[in-house]
Amino acid sequence: MALTQSGSTRDGWSSRTAFILAAIGSAVGLGNLVRFPAEAGANGGGAFVMFYILCVILIGLPVLLSETLIGRHGQAAAPESFRKVAEHSGKSTAWEHVASLGVFSAFVVLSFYCVLGGWVLYYIGTFVGDLFSTGVVGGAFSDSTVAEVEALFPAMISDGITTSILDLVFLGITLFFVARGVSGGIEKVALYLMPAFFVLLVGITIYGMFGGAMGQTVDYLFTFEPEKLTGPVMLAAVGQAFFSLSLGVAGMVTYGAYVGRNVNLGVTSGIIASADTMVALLAGLCIFPIVFAAGLSPNGGLGLMFQTLPHAFQEIPGGSLIGLAFFIMVGFAALTSSVALMEVPTAWIIDRFRFTRAVASGMVTVFAGALGVLCALSTGVLAGFHPLAFFPMFEGMGMLDAMDTLTGKITMPIGALLTSIFVGWIANKRLVDSENGLGGALHVFWRFLVCWLCPIALAAILLVGVFPSFIE
Ligand code: PHE
Repeated sequence: MALTQSGSTRDGWSSRTAFILAAIGSAVGLGNLVRFPAEAGANGGGAFVMFYILCVILIGLPVLLSETLIGRHGQAAAPESFRKVAEHSGKSTAWEHVASLGVFSAFVVLSFYCVLGGWVLYYIGTFVGDLFSTGVVGGAFSDSTVAEVEALFPAMISDGITTSILDLVFLGITLFFVARGVSGGIEKVALYLMPAFFVLLVGITIYGMFGGAMGQTVDYLFTFEPEKLTGPVMLAAVGQAFFSLSLGVAGMVTYGAYVGRNVNLGVTSGIIASADTMVALLAGLCIFPIVFAAGLSPNGGLGLMFQTLPHAFQEIPGGSLIGLAFFIMVGFAALTSSVALMEVPTAWIIDRFRFTRAVASGMVTVFAGALGVLCALSTGVLAGFHPLAFFPMFEGMGMLDAMDTLTGKITMPIGALLTSIFVGWIANKRLVDSENGLGGALHVFWRFLVCWLCPIALAAILLVGVFPSFIE
């Protein structure tokens, strides 16, 4: 094996650019394209967006740097990296369990993320079919009524066989890249797909600029009305910021472990966070002009992507082609994220049990496939199965919603909270300082954020997530 970026014969990124692209690939995903616009829509536009940007800078970025520096120091799978930092700081190695929790979260998120990936594949297929039947010139689905187009979504999610198969297909594509290793597969998918993703995103946004309602969108996303900045809006923004940056699942610890000593982690974390935020904003600028131009109002949740947008594509010229390009773009973004999610448990199995990468990633796929199929069926035949209903906060939730809530509201905030405490208070200061690449005032500010602001903010999300009555 050739010498890689980490300076050893262990597999790793072949260059700094490869690391940055792969980390951006991990961060940019359904969170940016589906969740961000929907959350912005549901939480009053500008107020949410401004506060979101603040959260990325003050909470997301410091935790992102903390995760990557643990990984780079450890040069191993996430739990082993935590253990090394703890050991080298003379502290209890029990801290490795923060990363074990992260491995668990990554596995669970992978399982339901691929179900959503499968839905995206379904829409790609639907738009391809439409392109062949109705041509490129007019809007999409010209033979169908609006009600028929909107009915595609409930029909799809209740068809458990189709969604299960597409979930397994998406998982299989993810496996294809993860099984080939870091430099041979994971960075290749980012190297090719991320630039293609950016071209599509910018292209569709430019289309919206000329053909869509851009002025209305800019007003909607950037008019700051302070009275709209309520407690729930702020919490939604913090939660969205750290989901979007892939924090709290030990994913950035895992990717950081393949980074060489010569890379300045402070600078690269800044680049990753900026790119992720830019994509979220561009996603808003790409989606809303099309929605507004069609005279629709942005509804929240999954309906925005899977019902409102297809309807909007019906109304605009070239809608079949733009719609297809749009869903292909979403698929690319989701794939580079699912690859990152699969790598977390895979790297752990390789490290812990000394299995080959092919066997480790194959095992993750089998288990994630089993859990994924349960999630896929939970919007259809298994809708009545409420696995965690014995806890009040999961009442009435099917498998998919329960797994999303369990990770998003509980295990991921706990992981991020403990990571910031570990780096801020437990790990040896000199060790941390030698890894973080920051100097002067920036360094002092970062320490303040990691030690104080991040733990407090993350504890607040956790508390309110579990006991929503706190802010009601
Ligand atoms: N950040 C990804 C997104 O926005 C989701 C993700 C979370 C990916 C955690 C990897 C790890 O879609």
